[in-house]
Amino acid sequence: MGKTIIISNRLPVQLQIDQGEITAIPSVGGLATGMKSVHSGGDSLWIGWSGLTDEEIPDELVSKIDKALAEHGSSQVNLTEDEIDGYYYGFSNRTVWPLFHYFMEYTEFEQEFWDAYKAVNRKFADAILAEAEDDDTIWVHDYQLMLVPQMVREEKPDISIGFFLHIPFPSYEIFRTIPWREELLEGLLGSDLIGFHTYDYERHFLSSVRRLLGLEVSFNDISLDHRIIKVDSFPMGIDYKKFSEAAKKNEESSEKGKSELQKRLDTHKKADPEAKFFLSIDRLDYSKGIAKRIYAFEYFLNKYPEYKEKVRLIVLAVPSRSNVPQYQLLKREVDELVGRINGEFSTVSWTPIWYFYRSMPFENLIDLYTSSDIAWLTPLRDGMNLVAKEYIATRTDQTGVLILSEMAGSANEMNESLLINPNNFEQIADALHTAINMPVEEQQERNAPMQKRLERYNVEKWANDFMNSLVDQKRKDYSHI
Ligand code: UDP
Ligand code: G6P
Repeated sequence: MGKTIIISNRLPVQLQIDQGEITAIPSVGGLATGMKSVHSGGDSLWIGWSGLTDEEIPDELVSKIDKALAEHGSSQVNLTEDEIDGYYYGFSNRTVWPLFHYFMEYTEFEQEFWDAYKAVNRKFADAILAEAEDDDTIWVHDYQLMLVPQMVREEKPDISIGFFLHIPFPSYEIFRTIPWREELLEGLLGSDLIGFHTYDYERHFLSSVRRLLGLEVSFNDISLDHRIIKVDSFPMGIDYKKFSEAAKKNEESSEKGKSELQKRLDTHKKADPEAKFFLSIDRLDYSKGIAKRIYAFEYFLNKYPEYKEKVRLIVLAVPSRSNVPQYQLLKREVDELVGRINGEFSTVSWTPIWYFYRSMPFENLIDLYTSSDIAWLTPLRDGMNLVAKEYIATRTDQTGVLILSEMAGSANEMNESLLINPNNFEQIADALHTAINMPVEEQQERNAPMQKRLERYNVEKWANDFMNSLVDQKRKDYSHI
């Protein structure tokens, strides 16, 4: 068997140039953090965008950049500023992302975006074709590259191609509104196997294929051009060991070994051991329900005023796609909301919301997870939400309460958490109240089975299941159809 080529818009690292020096920083987001663990273990090449446009890369740094990426088993697809504008900020994040997350009012259908999307997908396909041997396996990731499978298939009809979508696939009623809906489906059908996080997304996809392309679908098999394409759900896991071991190490660390953040958190805990930390971590994205969560926090403080000065909400909002107008508006909204609520409720000894607008290194994420009594995640729509899984994995003594939106893909596997509808403030306020007062034994009873599940269905198992299913699919004989 040949090598595996992973292909996604984001590489595991993002490059930055500072005074002629190249630095590689880890990429944020579920795809990169999850696939990184898979990639580091095997014989694979990862092709993607470095985060820098051609205009930002001086000629003399080109070979250095290739070398820096090669150190991470990666190679780059070069993209110009215009291409990034049309394909990434445009079609990917102003058309597909909002529509697939059911934000129809944010969705823009622009011919120019579509043209750029096609052209850049072609570039990615060409980058694969330049590297691929016939016995290689190609694993294409996510909504930015939905046309790539078919483009590769046309040139290499027998090669093995898998595609995984990391975001929801919307219902047919939503998907059908895209002017280029048939082309997108046909692009995906270049694959041998198409994977989704949940059974619902898989069903939505099959329904669109049946109704828009009129293809024969039998259970989860689609027949096309003497091929059968398999569609299945593979809920993505996390690198459980990495998170649980980092948490253990954190707890065992001496005072001197602690981070500044951890020391600050400890000081606050010591000052008032009864006070509770609520934690939310997301990219600053409208699908994550960050503004709604802050409104819900205000609602909670008004409904249960006895918790004033007793609870603190930590909001870690990671900068994301800041060239897209909706993200800029959201940033403004969240800034103002945090300011207003802190202004309204703060006392000399208490600030209700700690708001960080930045990304944090892994060690600090662990500090936050292990120091927070309650993780409170309220996406309005989320393909999976790995943060929920990471929080549970770091709770080494199995205490802690997870409050999670039903609209997150991960809610399917985290039934023991407190599941809420992010639009129902009454229910959320009560869930927070329940969480604050939940006996330790109950916390442990809820977390133990979730931990077991996360440990078993970790990211490695997820990747192996997908790959094994792809191999099985390729082995089947379809000469009779
Ligand atoms: N994350 C990170 N740095 C941060 C905050 C978050 O690397 O400062 C990671 C987090 O650990 C998680 C991922 O970003 O693995 C977010 O994945 P999730 O599935 O929750 O949401 P996505 O961003 O993919 O929509
Ligand atoms: C989600 C998407 C990924 C994306 C990540 C971060 O997880 O499914 O494809 O990489 O968000 O977003 P960005 O636009 O910064 O790559």
